Amino acid sequence: MTEISEEQHTTEMTEQDIAEAELPFGWLSETEAAGLAKLAEGKTVLEFGSFLGRSTIVLARAAALVVAVDHHRGSPEHQILGASYQDGSMDAHGRIDTSRRFLDNLARAGVRDKVIPFVGDIEAAARFLQRASFDLVFVDAEHSREATMRGGEIAFQLAKSDGIVAFHDFQARDFPGVTQAVIDIAARYQATTVSRAGSMIALQRVST
Ligand SMILES: C[S@@+](CC[C@H](N)C(=O)[O-])C[C@H]1O[C@@H](n2cnc3c(N)ncnc32)[C@H](O)[C@@H]1O
Repeated sequence: MTEISEEQHTTEMTEQDIAEAELPFGWLSETEAAGLAKLAEGKTVLEFGSFLGRSTIVLARAAALVVAVDHHRGSPEHQILGASYQDGSMDAHGRIDTSRRFLDNLARAGVRDKVIPFVGDIEAAARFLQRASFDLVFVDAEHSREATMRGGEIAFQLAKSDGIVAFHDFQARDFPGVTQAVIDIAARYQATTVSRAGSMIALQRVST
């Protein structure tokens, strides 16, 4: 498997690329990052799936506050697609643990104080946050149909009634389960598409 370091994205440093180059490795494209930042502007945000903090940093730079949920044990599908968990991503027992790199990356990006990390499972976070409500929930955790469905349900439960739930990897070739789940969730919650950017799709409930 090819070793991927966070520095691999720092190639040609045009001014426009500097902000991008500061982002850690991840699968969020520049287009998607721009779309996500727009949605997060001044908002309270809940994120499911932070990994090394690429999307978290994009969100935190724009948002008022981000609660970032990740058990930091990695997702099987991304290990297959080449995510490297070397270089400080193992705990003392040899298990994947990306939490330290995640926190370091937030600090390096200057957004550590805008992020409340929740190191745990989405289900645990849902129980803990049951009285909270967010303007925006971004779902980018495990990419199976079942997991996306469950993450999406929890996202709509924790979003304000006029809040937005956004998913990464909608209609992405490698993740048909995400596409199916998003279509099902949109139907279940009577939500329509309010924006698209790359594979990022943002849904909002139709007001009654
Ligand atoms: C695709 S990565 C997230 C990428 C990140 N949004 C970015 O921009 O780089 C998926 C993350 O979801 C986390 N994850 C998967 N299933 C989870 C679950 N049930 N609860 C909490 N975190 C989960 C994994 O540990 C992994 O870090």
